[in-house]
Amino acid sequence: MSLNESNPHGGLDVVIMAAGRGTRMKSQKPKVLHTLGGMSMLQRVVSTVKKLQPQSVVVVTGFGSEQVKASILDEDVHFVLQEPQLGTGHAAQQALPLLADKGTTLILNGDVPLIEAGILADLVRACSGQALALLTIELDDPTGYGRIVRAEHGRVLGIVEQKDATIEQHQIREINTGVMAVPTAHLKRWLANLKNDNAQKEYYLTDIVAMAVADGVSVVAERTKDALSVAGVNSPDQLVALERGLQQRIAHDLLRQGVRLADPQRLDVRGTLECGQDVEIDINCIFAGLVQLGDNVSIGANCVISNATIAAGAVIHPFTHIEGEKLGVKVGTGAKVGPYSRLRPGADLGEQVHVGNFVEVKNTTMAAGAKANHLAYLGDASIGEKANIGAGTITANYDGVHKHHTTVGARSSVGSNCVLVAPVELGEGATIAAGSVITRNTPADALTIARAPQTTKLRWKRPSST
Ligand code: UD1
Ligand code: CA
Repeated sequence: MSLNESNPHGGLDVVIMAAGRGTRMKSQKPKVLHTLGGMSMLQRVVSTVKKLQPQSVVVVTGFGSEQVKASILDEDVHFVLQEPQLGTGHAAQQALPLLADKGTTLILNGDVPLIEAGILADLVRACSGQALALLTIELDDPTGYGRIVRAEHGRVLGIVEQKDATIEQHQIREINTGVMAVPTAHLKRWLANLKNDNAQKEYYLTDIVAMAVADGVSVVAERTKDALSVAGVNSPDQLVALERGLQQRIAHDLLRQGVRLADPQRLDVRGTLECGQDVEIDINCIFAGLVQLGDNVSIGANCVISNATIAAGAVIHPFTHIEGEKLGVKVGTGAKVGPYSRLRPGADLGEQVHVGNFVEVKNTTMAAGAKANHLAYLGDASIGEKANIGAGTITANYDGVHKHHTTVGARSSVGSNCVLVAPVELGEGATIAAGSVITRNTPADALTIARAPQTTKLRWKRPSST
């Protein structure tokens, strides 16, 4: 979607205004760092504009600038500080030294997070390095927004802010979304001439529209119908409304791909969810980070899954928590997990592995066909093929300072309520009697018992008070 090479009028620069405090959010956090779908509003806008492959992206920071800068990991984003904040025109002025002398500058607000790249590309095309292109929308309730003032025959004359508008102008329902594409050379000249003789004593970026008209530069208003794309966030109410809007967008994209969602209203994707064919997802699931589901995967109700790869045919039963981090979680083909399982970073389950209720697995490989069906803790371990871990068994992997590894050989069977004190290794085909505390390596294909033998005292009497 690069608009640089194809544009004979020069490259594309982007300015994102994000200096405002966002007082109405009632938060210590800079407004643009509040998240939508697991990503900050500003990062969303940055990621979207990157799709246009601009030659530069400049973010204007002010309130909480250090925090805002630290939140953006893209190395090629530039930051300029606006201090004090004297309005949107003043914000754009701070970015000017970083812009090319010709070409197009796309200006957006950091608090309009769901803007779509296609809409921006259309706007830049409408500008084509020559016209001032504004993105507008008609709203039933335009209160608070800058209104698009047109002449009788429809030509745009300017933008008037709510606080400066006449009663007549308050009736105008076409509003400025805050997104515009401007020929950079004109922008530099117009911004230099801004005045703050208005109701808010601010330098309004929107005043450049009347300047364009006065200079005989054509102004085009591109009217969108996509209200979600241009909705701004000023309050927690608006943030949550956009979150629901975004989740609906994601859910309906998944449905169109053929994913069977039990209810598109009860799904939350806070990252990226990639699905194969015939995937089923029951209600109230949350996906975070990057989650990949293979063909025919089924996810039960109320699962929370982050950073995981779940292979074809695997079944994740309800209330399972899979929490991959940098070290992701892998679930093999046809595996069965849950209900009520917890897979932590580095859990790597092979084909047909079964992990059942109240089993916690961390940094542990379970080879094909291994099972831990009830109430177990497997940490820092390698569980061999077809090994069976009994209910209540744990790996004691931590001595208070270091973590140690446990190896369970293929086809071995560990009885209920065993403690495997690491470092320790159980041979292939080993059987461990229930209730054993295993502190030394055990041989292959043998029974090991490590518990006090049972004794009975005949005719023994409990003390009694009578
Ligand atoms: C602005 C527009 C208005 C438009 C509306 C769309 C102006 C004068 N008005 O009004 O026409 O309908 O957006 O949402 O441009 N910012 C700075 N520095 C400042 C002031 C603002 O960086 O000194 C940033 C804010 O952080 C925010 C954006 O600019 O991301 C818009 O500022 P805001 O104060 O919300 O402008 P509105 O009054 O909403
Ligand atoms: Ca705003």
